[in-house]
Amino acid sequence: MNKSHFIITGTSRGIGEQLAKMLLENGNFVYGISRGDSNSLVKYENYIHFNIDLCDVLVIENLLGKIFDQININNTGMICLINNAAMLEPLKSVDQCNAEEINKNLQISLIAPMVLTSCFIKQLDNVEVRRKIINISSGSGTSPAPAMSVYCTAKAGINMFTQCVGVEQSKRNNPIEIIAVDPGMVETEMQIVARGKNTHDFEMSNFFKQVHQTGQLQSTEDLGKHLLNIIDKEIEPGKLVKYSEG
Ligand SMILES: NC(=O)c1ccc[n+]([C@@H]2O[C@H](COP(=O)([O-])OP(=O)(O)OC[C@H]3O[C@@H](n4cnc5c(N)ncnc54)[C@H](OP(=O)(O)O)[C@@H]3O)[C@@H](O)[C@H]2O)c1
Repeated sequence: MNKSHFIITGTSRGIGEQLAKMLLENGNFVYGISRGDSNSLVKYENYIHFNIDLCDVLVIENLLGKIFDQININNTGMICLINNAAMLEPLKSVDQCNAEEINKNLQISLIAPMVLTSCFIKQLDNVEVRRKIINISSGSGTSPAPAMSVYCTAKAGINMFTQCVGVEQSKRNNPIEIIAVDPGMVETEMQIVARGKNTHDFEMSNFFKQVHQTGQLQSTEDLGKHLLNIIDKEIEPGKLVKYSEG
C-alpha cells in the first residue's frame, strides 16, 4: 500500500511528537511544525521539520505549498493535516490577562489551525487522493473553567470551526474529511504546567494535581494508539470525536 503523508503541528514534544513517531515507525512521511526541534524524530529519514512560530500567519500561509511540492500526490495513501499545537496559558481570570497574551493564545490555538485548514482545502480541493484534517480539541471546549477562559474559548472555537467546515465539505462531490478529537487527559508538559501553578493564582491546579496523583492521566503512547485508529476510520465530516472512539 502507498504510504501516507502527515503534516502535524506541535511535534517538538507531547502528543504531537509521539504520534509523529508512531506514524514514522509505520513507514509514513511526517512534516512536523514547531518552534523547537524534536531529538527523537530527526533520526527518521521520512521526517522533515519546519521551525516555525504559528503566530506568524503569513509564513504558515505559504508553508503548505512548500510541503505539497515535495509530495508525489499520485503515489500517496492519504494526505492528512493534524492541527495539534496549542497554548494553555494565560491561566488567569480574564481581567488579569493582557491583550498580547490573549492574542498569542488564539493565534496559535485557533487562528493557525483555521489558516492551515483553509490553505489545505484550497490547495488539495481537486485532488483524487484521500485527504483528512484532524483538529485536536479538548474537553475544555465544552466545560467552562475559571482562569481558563482563553484556552476554553480557543477549543470551543476549534469545535465550531470543525463543524462548519464539515457542513461545507459534506455538500461537495469530493469531500475532504474533517473531525475534531478530544484526546482526554494525557501526561505531557501541558499537564505539568497546569498542576505546577500556585493554587492561590490558579484554583484549577488542585484538579490537575488530583488527576495526576490518582493515576487518571493516560500516556502519549496509549493515546497514540487511539489516534492511529481514528486516522484510519472514515468518520462523518464535522464530527467531534472522543479519543476512546478510536
Ligand atoms: N495533555 C493533555 O492533557 C491535553 C488535554 C486536552 C487537550 N490537549 C490538546 O492536545 C494538543 C497537544 O497538547 P500537548 O499536551 O502535547 O502539549 P505540549 O506538550 O505543551 O506540546 C505543545 C506543542 O505545541 C507546540 N507549540 C506551542 N506553541 C507554538 C508556536 N507558537 N508555534 C509552533 N508550535 C507551537 C510546541 O512546540 P514549541 O514550543 O517547540 O513551539 C509543542 O510541540 C493541544 O492541542 C492540547 O490543547 C491536551
